[in-house]
Amino acid sequence: MDKYIIEGGAPLYGSVRVQSAKNAVLPLLAASVLTEERVIIRRCPRICDVLHMTEILGELGCKTRFEGDALVIDGADAANHEIPAALAKEMRSSVFLLGSVVARFGKARIAYPGGCDIGLRPVDLHLKGLRRLNVRVEEEGGYINCASDRLKGAEIVLDCPSVGATENIMLASVKGEGTTVLRNAAKEPEIRDLQDFLNRMGAKVRGAGTGTVRIEGVRALHGVEYTPMPDRIEAGTFLIAAAMCGGEIAVEGASAENLAALIDKLREISCKIAVKDDKIYIKSDGERRSLRLIETMPYPGFPTDLQAPATALACICEGSAVIVENLFETRFKHVPELIRMGADVVVRGRAAFVRGVPALHGADVAAGDLRGGAALTLAAISAEGRSTVTDLSHIDRGYSGFEYKLAALGAKIRRIRV
Ligand code: UD1
Repeated sequence: MDKYIIEGGAPLYGSVRVQSAKNAVLPLLAASVLTEERVIIRRCPRICDVLHMTEILGELGCKTRFEGDALVIDGADAANHEIPAALAKEMRSSVFLLGSVVARFGKARIAYPGGCDIGLRPVDLHLKGLRRLNVRVEEEGGYINCASDRLKGAEIVLDCPSVGATENIMLASVKGEGTTVLRNAAKEPEIRDLQDFLNRMGAKVRGAGTGTVRIEGVRALHGVEYTPMPDRIEAGTFLIAAAMCGGEIAVEGASAENLAALIDKLREISCKIAVKDDKIYIKSDGERRSLRLIETMPYPGFPTDLQAPATALACICEGSAVIVENLFETRFKHVPELIRMGADVVVRGRAAFVRGVPALHGADVAAGDLRGGAALTLAAISAEGRSTVTDLSHIDRGYSGFEYKLAALGAKIRRIRV
């Protein structure tokens, strides 16, 4: 039950290094089940979602341990194919395990997954894809049961480019018989990271990052030592923080190409952005022209995971802005909290209509989900006066040392145990 105490208003200066991407690491952990050999994930962030995933791997019989910042997974003794409700409900990524667990054991039984409460998050595309790969799928009593004597390659067209379904189908087919061609695949950079990881294990996957992924089944996969890609959402969060607070920071170990949609918007409101190697420099003198319109889209469009921080930013930009959330139904839970801080926002369906105010003021607010919690923290460090942010467990799911990193940039933020 920790909370942040924040004195807002300090500009940000200095540099911050981003962690490895949560959304890359989670599927890699699912992929580690595919081999009996040792897998080492270097620079693995100790965020709660990762720790939960290691608990789930432990339930399957894998041994996991941190050696410094590397996570070592030893799956030699894995023998269990069931993930109970208590673990699966904590996070949605447990559903990725269907593909890899059924590929390893010929069967999988997983309780319906949980995750952020940001609207309906069906798994129909995952299950449809698995069925096409010769998996028998039954849903009973809150569990998904999968079984297959032999996974077989297939032509699959996704109804919509789901990140998780793309990854799950890659994981299920990588040791299948024959070739799988997956069309209308999601193009998120984390999917390419999964492809690179699988290929380093001996898989034959190509096309990830485009709309068509081809997976040629191989007999076995071996161990691997791998450094995942940087977290583009964490990097984007810090860029938005600088735009909101003013100042000049460098975000290190980040890919500007993966953040093109955000960088374009930040330039539109008059932030100065420069890129050199893996560093993104942002300078903001406090002038923030209107953001006008943000519509979340699958990659390379504006990421839904940066919608909440971008909405917080729009609250203190000049003029009006419309923020349209096209991916998830109820991803505006941060808005009532922003209104408590003086924001002028109306939500209708999937759109938030924002009228900028010169500054937000401090208030006691609660994080309702992961990115919404980050958004409220940014709002508080940029606001006039004192705020508290509670329900930090949501933020801890995806950001490691969030408050330390912000404090190192000059934000007046500390965490206290209640
Ligand atoms: C992943 C990310 C999450 C991000 C999201 C969209 C991880 C661990 N999480 O989530 O941070 O917000 O991508 O970029 O990588 N859908 C269906 N049926 C399905 C699956 C999805 O209708 O079987 C719909 C969803 O309701 C949603 C859309 O497809 O509207 C996108 O969801 P998806 O890409 O699957 O998101 P996740 O993989 O859950």
